[in-house]
Amino acid sequence: MSSVLDGVRYHETILTTIGQTPLVRLRKLARDCPAPVLAKLEFFNPGGSVKDRIGLAMVETAEREGKLRPGGTIVECTSGNTGLGLAMVACVRGYRAVFCMPDKVSSEKVSLLKAFGAEVLLSPTAVAPDSPESYYSVARHIAAERPGAFLTNQYHNPANPQAHYDSTGPELWEQTAGKITHLVAGMGTGGTISGTAKYLKEKNPGVRVIGADPVGSILKAYHETGKITEAHPYKIEGVGEDFIPTATDFSMIDQVVSCNDRNGLNTARRLAREEAIFVGGSSGMAAWVAIEVARTLAPNDLMVVLLTDTGERYLTKVHSDAWMRDNHLFDPAITRAGDVLGGKGRAVRGLLSVRVGEPLRRALALVEQHDITQIPVFRDGDVAGTLYDSEILKRVLEDSRTLDQAVETLMSEPLPVVESDEPVESVTRLMAAHNSAVLVREHGALTGILTRYDMLQFIAGGE
Ligand SMILES: Cc1ncc(COP(=O)(O)O)c(C=O)c1O
Repeated sequence: MSSVLDGVRYHETILTTIGQTPLVRLRKLARDCPAPVLAKLEFFNPGGSVKDRIGLAMVETAEREGKLRPGGTIVECTSGNTGLGLAMVACVRGYRAVFCMPDKVSSEKVSLLKAFGAEVLLSPTAVAPDSPESYYSVARHIAAERPGAFLTNQYHNPANPQAHYDSTGPELWEQTAGKITHLVAGMGTGGTISGTAKYLKEKNPGVRVIGADPVGSILKAYHETGKITEAHPYKIEGVGEDFIPTATDFSMIDQVVSCNDRNGLNTARRLAREEAIFVGGSSGMAAWVAIEVARTLAPNDLMVVLLTDTGERYLTKVHSDAWMRDNHLFDPAITRAGDVLGGKGRAVRGLLSVRVGEPLRRALALVEQHDITQIPVFRDGDVAGTLYDSEILKRVLEDSRTLDQAVETLMSEPLPVVESDEPVESVTRLMAAHNSAVLVREHGALTGILTRYDMLQFIAGGE
């Protein structure tokens, strides 16, 4: 709660700025949905994620229960948002914080936690969870050995869902004036969805709660069958599990919808480009599920989707073109010509070309050196035509003296030009109309060429 002193409004500490995050309508992404889709933007929390809420709540509960005393140590296994939430509380309340994580986590995440004064212990990633070296075991060991240490254990701590019952649920009820009919949230520990759902369903049992689960996680199958299945790797971070956390109350969840990496991550990118909402991949997943469900709703329904954290934590992943390309995750439906051009296997270089008046010998040299099939011919800076390797070879084999002839003697029609921000669909349409390649223009200058081979590689790589 903020303080007022002589009319000056301020917060005593950063901790009271947690919560009261805004709802923003997804006007573009959900434009085809009959019901409005509102996004609750949890990156407005001071630590940049929904986990600030449980960081504070787990510490306050432990204090009340006498498990954490002045000068004590907060211990957690976390590579991300929960650590940050806890580190902030530890800093303000004067606790030590120790975070145990696998050594695969990015150095940015380690630096982020250390910036708040936390201690970070890295364990080898490639060990079994029950090995004494694993980060779970290290955390348990520290919690048992250090005097005054408390393992917050977000996966099994009832204070986690309770935090959402106490804050996220009431906020949503008030912000929507009780009109919310559908809630979508990703599930990791399940604390967010379980606590928020419990509050909303107490207010209106008709509120439908939908969990978003990445393909590869076991939570959807567990919700539907009660059976534990085999988990598979996926790229979306922070959500989905390979075990069942007791912080999840499955009876609060009406339906679980799966989302694959490609749909989830591309939706995160679209949220940034089209709505200026900059979030991580798990939020993209939740938004994708919310929009899918909202397509089936009535105009007087009201969908809310929880977007959990800031995209700044994923600048080298979902928000990096290179990472998306390397992982074959670009969605052809929203990919632009420039994205494919930038992702060509070969090093990016200027457009190889010849000028009117140059001899065929030079074009042949380019074919040989760079293994290319077609070469644009320029006249005074404009494309005048195209040379094809097969035609050059045919002509030269017939008569080697033609090597000294000017390129325009063998030139065919110019290749079509597309703008670099045109959807790849335009490129494929042009190629279907018997063009073997297209030229790509950016800011008025021709910057590259896309061939059928490039397009096939892009499409095949995407599967
Ligand atoms: C980025 C991100 N999104 C979503 C979640 C899921 O929230 P919860 O653990 O409350 O189910 C988490 C949890 O770790 C997360 O880190």
